[in-house]
Amino acid sequence: MEIVIQETPEAATEIAAMIVARLLREKPDAVLGLATGSTPLLLYRSLIEKKLDWSRVTTFNLDEYIGLPQDHPQSYHSFMWTNLFRHVNIDRARVHIPDGNAKDIPGVCAAYEKRIRAAGGIDLQILGIGTDGHIGFNEPTSSLASRTRIKTLTPQTRKDNARFFGDEESVPHHVVTMGIGTIMEAREVLLLAFGAQKAQAVAEAAEGPMTAINPASALQMHPEARFCLDTGAASKLQRAEYYRWVYDNKPDWQRP
Ligand code: GLP
Repeated sequence: MEIVIQETPEAATEIAAMIVARLLREKPDAVLGLATGSTPLLLYRSLIEKKLDWSRVTTFNLDEYIGLPQDHPQSYHSFMWTNLFRHVNIDRARVHIPDGNAKDIPGVCAAYEKRIRAAGGIDLQILGIGTDGHIGFNEPTSSLASRTRIKTLTPQTRKDNARFFGDEESVPHHVVTMGIGTIMEAREVLLLAFGAQKAQAVAEAAEGPMTAINPASALQMHPEARFCLDTGAASKLQRAEYYRWVYDNKPDWQRP
């Protein structure tokens, strides 16, 4: 696992944006796994500004709320079109977001896994992290081998996400999310985390034991996982100085 610590969210985002941009230039038909939440907003803004060619890019989003109409402002469909897709030349047919309104949700989950495989697998998966260590919507104690399925949100996550909905009552209880096993199959994983409220979850994910209580800790088993953090999110890492030194002294050929 590589841990990159930068002073600000903007600086950490820029490194992530360079990695995504390089992939899209080198592999114009890349398959991206995308995340929602406030954390990747800067990344999407930066990618829009880079004026990349998205015409052959395929995307799979991590998750979606169940029962929220697609045109609801807080659905992840709305989020993605508002914050990224509308601003780039992506082919609508190559965009995949789980359908949280389907009658047969288990069928939707199985089909989602199949489509990822048919697309050749995910080249690069973007992740945020919940304050409880969740990735996608894989809440604590999710199976580390899990696949796309229904999950029930914890009270903590509903409270965290209430800021988008106005009140906690309006936050759905159920979601569809890629599993941890699904995420682990991406060839490269890039987790972004900003702010001191993420520091505990980040420290446990990177330096704690690998445990289902912190789902992001599964990334310790991923051969190409990178965390891009600001100083707040990095503030509880025991070996922060070491990670900074490693990054500052990388040979040029190893730099993102
Ligand atoms: C949501 C999303 C996650 C996201 C997390 C953190 O619940 N399902 O993909 O990483 O919460 O959100 P934020 O970036 O807003 O802190």
